[in-house]
Order: sequence, then C-alpha cells, then structure tokens
Amino acid sequence: MKIYVAEDYQSMSRKAANIVSAQVILNPASVLGLATGSTPVGMYKQLIDWYNKGDLDFDQVKSVNLDEYVGLAPDHPQSYRYFMQTNFFDHINIDPAATNVPQGLAADPAAECARYNQVIRGLGGIDIQVLGMGHNGHIGFNEPGEAFELETHVVDLQESTIAANARFFEKKEDVPSRAITMGIKSIMQARQILVVVSGEDKAAIVKTAFTGPVTPLVPASILQMHPNVVLVGDRAALSKL
Ligand code: F6R
Repeated sequence: MKIYVAEDYQSMSRKAANIVSAQVILNPASVLGLATGSTPVGMYKQLIDWYNKGDLDFDQVKSVNLDEYVGLAPDHPQSYRYFMQTNFFDHINIDPAATNVPQGLAADPAAECARYNQVIRGLGGIDIQVLGMGHNGHIGFNEPGEAFELETHVVDLQESTIAANARFFEKKEDVPSRAITMGIKSIMQARQILVVVSGEDKAAIVKTAFTGPVTPLVPASILQMHPNVVLVGDRAALSKL
C-alpha cells in the first residue's frame, strides 16, 4: 500500500485528483469507480477545475458509483445520483449514458443488484475505485459484519450510519433504512483503489483498518489484501498510523 500524507483537506483533495487524472490521461476510456460523501467533494472540485482549464477530457470515461439509497429518486437532493450530478457530472464532459449509479427506485432491488453487477462486468471491471471510509470502517455501505464475498447487494443500514447521515435530511426518520451497495468482492476486483480520508475523527478507524487484523468487523481492513491501494489522507486523519 502506498500512503500519501497531505497537509490539509485541500492538498489531500489535490493529491487524490492527481491520481485520478493520471488514470484518465493514461487511459482516456477509463472506468472510474466513484464515491459520494463529504471526503471526495474537494477532489471532484479539483478535477472540474482541471477540466475547465483544458487539462482533462472525460469524453470517453465511464463511471460506476458505489451505492445508492433504496427508495430515493434520482432527483431527490439526498440521493447519491443527485450528489454525483451536482458535484461532478454536470460540470464535465462525461457522457451521461456512461455514468452508472444503482437505481434507488428499482421495483425489484435484488434484480437491480444483479443488473448492476452485469454493468460492471460489461465495462470490463473498474480501473480505479475511489473510497471514503465510515467511522465504523464501512466502505460503500458494507457495514461491519458484512461477508467479504458479496457483489452488489441490498443492505439494511445500521443505526450508527443512519444517525451519521441524518444531518443531510430534515429528520432522522427521513433517512432511508436500506441501500444498494457494491459488495466487498466488487470493490476488491477493482484494479486500483484510492482511499481518501480527512480529519482527526477518522484517525482511529484508519489505524484499526490498516494496521489491525483483517476482519469483516472492520470492512475496510480487507483493503490490506489488495495489491494496489493508495491511501491519501490529511495529517489529522493519518496521525495515528
Ligand atoms: C459513499 C460511501 C460511504 C462513504 C463513507 C465516508 O458513496 O459509500 O462509504 O465513503 O461513509 O463518508 P464521508 O466521506 O462523508 O466521511
């Protein structure tokens, strides 16, 4: 695993964007695995900036997102599709038809998971998967205890995750209780993984995940077994490593 220590959130975002843009420059038809959440927002901003300067072209890029809430429409302000449109896709020249996020409104979420697995396979797999990490070590919506061998599947969200995400909704009851997520197996099949972490509140879980035992109780700990992981964090998040 390679580790880059950045001074602060901004330089962490810039370093992460450097790595994604290197991928896109070297392979203009890259398949990007993307994440939502607060951590990668600065990375997306930086990529948009370089696109606007003419340094990046997303014309042939394809994307697959990690996860989506079950029951939220694509234009719901808290849906992950909406997040991706407003934070990234609407500002670059990626082909809208080449962007994939699980469909939260699918009538049959299990069938949607099977379809999504086929989408990832059809694209030939993921070249670089961007991941944030939850305070409990979740990656995507793979919560502690989740089997390592799953591909895209439906999960019941844990109380702690619902509570952490409640800040984005009017009230806690509005947070969906289920989500569709790529599984650990899908994530581990990506050819490269870029983990972004920021802030002192992530320091303890970063240490546990990357220096502790590999266990389903800390989903991100499986990343220790991936041959091509880059961890980019600010000094605060990496302070306990
Ligand atoms: C987002 C996702 C989540 C987040 C994680 C960290 O698509 O799957 O696993 O990456 O919850 O979120 P932030 O970055 O908000 O701390």
